[in-house]
Order: sequence, then structure tokens, then C-alpha cells
Amino acid sequence: MSELRYVHGYSPREAERLCDQANVLSALLHEGVRYAPGRRVLEAGCGTGAQTVLLAAGSPEAEIVSVDVSAASLEEARRRVSTAGHRNVEFRRADLFDLPFAEAGFDDVFLCFVLEHLAEPERALAALRRMLRPGGTITVIEGDHGSWYCHPATEAASRTVQCLIEIQARLGGDSLIGRRLYPLLARAGFAEVQVVPRLVYVDESRPDLVEGFSRNTFIAMVEGVRDQAISLGLMEAAQWDQGIAELRRAAEPGGTFCYTFFRGTALRP
Ligand SMILES: C[S@@+](CC[C@H](N)C(=O)[O-])C[C@H]1O[C@@H](n2cnc3c(N)ncnc32)[C@H](O)[C@@H]1O
Repeated sequence: MSELRYVHGYSPREAERLCDQANVLSALLHEGVRYAPGRRVLEAGCGTGAQTVLLAAGSPEAEIVSVDVSAASLEEARRRVSTAGHRNVEFRRADLFDLPFAEAGFDDVFLCFVLEHLAEPERALAALRRMLRPGGTITVIEGDHGSWYCHPATEAASRTVQCLIEIQARLGGDSLIGRRLYPLLARAGFAEVQVVPRLVYVDESRPDLVEGFSRNTFIAMVEGVRDQAISLGLMEAAQWDQGIAELRRAAEPGGTFCYTFFRGTALRP
């Protein structure tokens, strides 16, 4: 099983970015995500465990099984969860399209920021549906880079974000997937599908969000594709650097950021 070539890669900086993202957005994205004692929960694409620690803390008596294709990420996730003192998570290296578990063996499935990287998100959801017992739940969290805007808004800043969208699409992903969650879940055979938008608005009155979301999550994610954007000829280096400097201005006093995440929930009929 090989690690994926995916847009954000597996660098230590990316692991840190995922953690900032999970921590700063935990109240917004994990609100109400609680699993009762004894429930078996499958977390698909756990990465370096940024969401896993939040799941384990929120549902300390559930039995969480977290899988990922990346051995290095799993190692980091194990370390993170054990350092946080959680004992209710088991990690397995596995491809979510070919899981080594019996069908219908889980009460719940959770996945966050995974579908956006997959060429076949509907097939992934169908594979995860088969892991659930009838009546079992799925919770899916995704972003949508088309939902982003900032002030001051500039052409060069928007082009850097557009580069990320384009590069992710060339790798077979879809960073605009948030808006597709409802139809994807419904077509993958789930029932009682509900999708709620979760909007993050940031201005200087929330320095935690300026740092944790605008700078360390969103701008860091865009900056991560600099070399690819330039080598693919999507932007010149000087234009790119100007665009990033202008994006950073929106995270300075007087600037604002807005972004919408989408959380979908559904049941296996
Ligand atoms: C952006 S990371 C998100 C990690 C974590 N859920 C979080 O929110 O911090 C996407 C993860 O999905 C994993 N992934 C992608 N395709 C997968 C597959 N087919 N099976 C299992 N994991 C996969 C990648 O290895 C990566 O760790």
C-alpha cells in the first residue's frame, strides 16, 4: 500500500497545520459529535491524529478505530493520542476502499478533510457505508475553497487560492467538495442526509482565529503549493509572492477572512 501523492503532502509543517486547523476549529466542527460508551467508531483517513485526539476526548468510552494509508502519519497519530493520555483508540494502516474489517461491524464512521483528496468520493462513501450496521451513522466534514473571501480583496491574492484549487483538481481531488456533500451522501446510499454549513469569520477581535485559522490554516495551505504553481506556469514567482503578501494583509489589523466548512451526517438504511 503506497502513500498518496496528495496536494498538501506529509511534511512536518503540514502535520502542524492540520493540528492548528483541528484545534482552532474544534468547537465549530466537532460540536455535538459524541459517541456513547461502547460504540465502535471508524475514523477514516485519520492522518497525524489531529481530529483523533478530539474524537477520543469527546467520546472517552467509545472504541475508536482510526485508519490511514500513510504509515508515517499513523506513527505521529499514535504518539499524539498517547501523549494526550487517550487509551480508547486503535490504529490500523489501511486503504478505506479496501478495509480489513467485516461488513457492518461499526456503529459510526467519522471522516474529516479526506474526500476532497479522492478522485472517487462517492465510491469511498459507499465503501464506508458497508462498514456500518443498519442505523449506524456517518459524519463527514469538508471545506470548500470557493467559499473563501477576504478583505482587502485583491486579484493576485485570489489567484494564489485559485492555483491551489487547480492543482488539487489536477491531482484528482476537489477542493470545492463541501457543496457536494449532500448529493454525494445520498448517491452513496445513505438515508436521512443532513448538511450544515459552518462559517468561520475572522477579524482582529479574534487573535486566536487570526493566528490559528487565517495564518496557520488557510494561508499556510495556499503557501504550500508555491513551487507547484510556479513550475506548472500557473503564476510567475513575483506575482505569487505579491499574492501571498496581499493574503497576509487580510490577516493584519483592518483585514478580515471568511470561509465555510460543511458537516454532513447520515444513516445507513
Ligand atoms: C488532509 S489529511 C486529513 C487528516 C485528518 N483527517 C485531519 O483532519 O487532520 C487527509 C488524509 O487522508 C488520508 N487518505 C487519503 N486517501 C486515503 C485512503 N484511500 N485510505 C485511507 N486514508 C487515506 C491521507 O493519507 C491523509 O492522511
